[in-house]
Amino acid sequence: MTLPISNAVITAIGSYVPEKVLTNADLEAIVDTSDEWIVQRTGIRERRIAAESQYSSDLSILAVRDMARRYNVQLTDIDYIIVATSTPDTFVPSVASRVQAEFGMQGCGTADLQAACAGFTAALQMANGLLLSGIYKKVLVIGTETLSKATDYTDRTTCILFGDGAGAFLLEAASGSKSDIIAASSNTDGSGGHLLYRSSLSPSIGGYDIIATSNIVQNGREVYRWAISEVSKGINELMKKSGTSAAQINWFAPHNANQRIIDALCDKTGFHLEQALSSIAKYGNTSAASIPLAIDDAVRDGRIAAGDTILLYGFGGGLTQSGILLRWSI
Ligand SMILES: CC(C)(COP(=O)(O)OP(=O)(O)OC[C@H]1O[C@@H](n2cnc3c(N)ncnc32)[C@H](O)[C@@H]1OP(=O)(O)O)[C@@H](O)C(=O)NCCC(=O)NCCS
Repeated sequence: MTLPISNAVITAIGSYVPEKVLTNADLEAIVDTSDEWIVQRTGIRERRIAAESQYSSDLSILAVRDMARRYNVQLTDIDYIIVATSTPDTFVPSVASRVQAEFGMQGCGTADLQAACAGFTAALQMANGLLLSGIYKKVLVIGTETLSKATDYTDRTTCILFGDGAGAFLLEAASGSKSDIIAASSNTDGSGGHLLYRSSLSPSIGGYDIIATSNIVQNGREVYRWAISEVSKGINELMKKSGTSAAQINWFAPHNANQRIIDALCDKTGFHLEQALSSIAKYGNTSAASIPLAIDDAVRDGRIAAGDTILLYGFGGGLTQSGILLRWSI
């Protein structure tokens, strides 16, 4: 069978964050920390926390409803759903299957993808491949997290960072138009897996004993060092590969891990701080959801316009890196 070669275009975006706000002042009452320390070291002022009965699939469904409300899109003919998450409601069934069931999408395939904070950009790369090959015509990509359910609120080094939320992009095959995905790159260093993890079955990673609580554990200082040194290299390589420079790209959408990391990445890649899309002050680090949340904030307030180019760059546990240069066409 010969499949038609197609192009991939983004046709809709949606997002959702839970109502409950956890401020730095709230955290001061739980652990030995201060608003000043958190803002100075991370740029985070508050984060959203899912209700007890709200899981990653619930946030995903609300993000998709938001997308359907804002754009004239049919959900029932979606061919495939990829959900990027490190905090699925259950390992089996997938979050993507729960989303399919909620919207009654018939003939629709589903899979969850786990690439930590690089998950959303990795999922976009997969979706792009499915559309370019002509296998599917309409793919829904979701980044969703309920990190608050995997956070130790007695550990002041991690609990200040994480928040909950979800974002979704709809991608469709379009022959004749230019592809919105211009370039992509990935780079994993699995030897650093023990530096940032969420345990499940194995008591060790690469020979290192780990804390088997199913909460997120990290060596913040080492992850910070890796992000500044290796992630900046990865971003520069993606720009080189695509023949562009920061001055030729409108927006930079890095994973919102820490404002200091974003500032340092701008410094090492040539992006101005004003080009960086960050909603970290109000959402904290939402892992696979952070990039679509930051982009949707900029779409809603009119900063991003049709025709703009955006460099999306996810990085995190694994240690994973995954980037995409795209053209925004809606
Ligand atoms: C977590 C992070 C903010 C900590 O900042 P840091 O400057 O590296 O801080 P350190 O771990 O060196 O600790 C410095 C001091 O602050 C203390 N500290 C740690 N967390 C604190 C908090 N919430 N409030 C107050 N003090 C805190 C430490 O105990 C340490 O005290 P000590 O010097 O008496 O031992 C920082 O390492 C970081 O952002 N790392 C990357 C994390 C990340 O983004 N992960 C996700 C990547 S996808």
